[in-house]
Amino acid sequence: MHTLTNTTKHPLSPKTTATASTTTSGATTTATMLERALSSRRAAPHLDDPVSADESKTKKQNLYLLASNYFSRLTHPCICPSPCLLLCLLFAVALIASLVYNSRSFVCVSDHGSRVGFYGFDGLESDFGTLGVPWCKSRLSHLFECEVLNFIEFLHLVMESRQSSYDLFLFNSCPLAKGRSKHEKTVEWTSKDLIKALGEFVPIYETRPIKNNMYGMGFDHSFGLWFMTRWLKPELMIESGAFKGHSTWVLRQAMPDTPIISITPRHPEKYLKKGPAYVDGNCTYFAGKDFVDFGSIDWKTVMKKHGITDLSQVLIFFDDHQNELKRVKQALRAGFRHLIFEDNYDTGTGDHYSLRQICDQSYIRGGGHSCFRDSDEARIRSKRKKFWEKAVDVDELCGPNDAWWGVRGWMRDNFNHSNTQISYEEHFQNSRFVESILDVYWELPPVAGPSLTHQMRYDPARATSPIVEDGRYSTFKRLGLDRFDNSVFNGYTQMVYLQISQQES
Ligand SMILES: C[S@@+](CC[C@H](N)C(=O)[O-])C[C@H]1O[C@@H](n2cnc3c(N)ncnc32)[C@H](O)[C@@H]1O
Repeated sequence: MHTLTNTTKHPLSPKTTATASTTTSGATTTATMLERALSSRRAAPHLDDPVSADESKTKKQNLYLLASNYFSRLTHPCICPSPCLLLCLLFAVALIASLVYNSRSFVCVSDHGSRVGFYGFDGLESDFGTLGVPWCKSRLSHLFECEVLNFIEFLHLVMESRQSSYDLFLFNSCPLAKGRSKHEKTVEWTSKDLIKALGEFVPIYETRPIKNNMYGMGFDHSFGLWFMTRWLKPELMIESGAFKGHSTWVLRQAMPDTPIISITPRHPEKYLKKGPAYVDGNCTYFAGKDFVDFGSIDWKTVMKKHGITDLSQVLIFFDDHQNELKRVKQALRAGFRHLIFEDNYDTGTGDHYSLRQICDQSYIRGGGHSCFRDSDEARIRSKRKKFWEKAVDVDELCGPNDAWWGVRGWMRDNFNHSNTQISYEEHFQNSRFVESILDVYWELPPVAGPSLTHQMRYDPARATSPIVEDGRYSTFKRLGLDRFDNSVFNGYTQMVYLQISQQES
């Protein structure tokens, strides 16, 4: 039996219990799905920092001044400065080593500057900071400034021999990160967990029944869905958009005995007549003549039928190419809290309005765009367009009246079949709304860098650092990723996990 104690609620509140109790047979210490997903101990990956590049430059200069002032003060009282300097050097090495080590263990750290060049695109790589990745500000830069200031303070205490003070003084006094979401939470898993799981997933993926899943998920998102589902351990999995059933199969690999509900207009069994498909034995299909759109299902009745009393134990996977804002609102109304969106299209691309587009706002580093034809952004975009199939130049990005949000000012829906034009104000309000209901927004990183996977579709400038970074061929090979055809790595579109905050009863 485990009890959720998070009492924060938001007002858009269907009838769910604020304090949820779950009994899991045989496991006395089983954590709830919510707790498995969250860790407020760890740094939030998506930092909300409106500080501009210029401002950070000033900060760096200030730091430099502070440091040099400190060191000149430091050597002054010493009869012989060498031991002091040696001590400083020793601390500096330890500090840098600790920063490098710690920065690796967090997920979703946008650290483009550290990426190695490949394919001779080094010049373009250095432009990464200008376009950037919305919602994924570099935690390192924040942390570094704070740690350096801390270090200086620490040395100061050492020099003044205030043993009692520096006993209390710890390097954890830095605010690790300003969370993007309102409760400053992030996911619990780290890049180490992702790497370890990758090795486990490769042999599973090799046994997939649908080898050619064109128009469906490739390797990156299959791994992401499997990893998150296995981590969250839901009591019920719901998918909207099954196609031939590959994602149903992935869910089944993650949770062998958990029921699935699959909503899809054409039953996957229809595809069996033409070739490989997957139909699951423990799945309720809202398909064919039984198809009902996710937004029109009577979820109260369906949940009752499945014996679900706690909706925070349900995971929903959307791969149905519908407006994601619409889906979030529908899920919120029904009381669901854990959502994964497969196609989280970048601004200017895709056939439906996505979370990534919604969150691409001017106050986020890497977010907001300029439609000036002679701007730096235009120049960088046009260069990157030559290398990456899905990169968009300013002409493609901007519609009438320089509308860049969504797709040229359009909020696309239903595979680009029913679209609505929105104003910048509406787009901005959408982001405020989404922020107001989310505890977590986490984008799956690409599994490996493009020099390893040879993918040429998505622009790495608009993605978080890959799980296996460029240059790490031995890791890529050790995990067995080199055994796959390059085409399986072509489908990355920023799969995202959302956790909606707890709702009022
Ligand atoms: C990209 S495919 C899904 C791929 C699948 N998840 C996979 O991994 O192979 C999109 C699917 O959404 C289905 N679809 C279209 N409209 C839908 C709706 N309103 N609700 C649910 N599914 C829908 C399509 O028929 C199609 O099967």
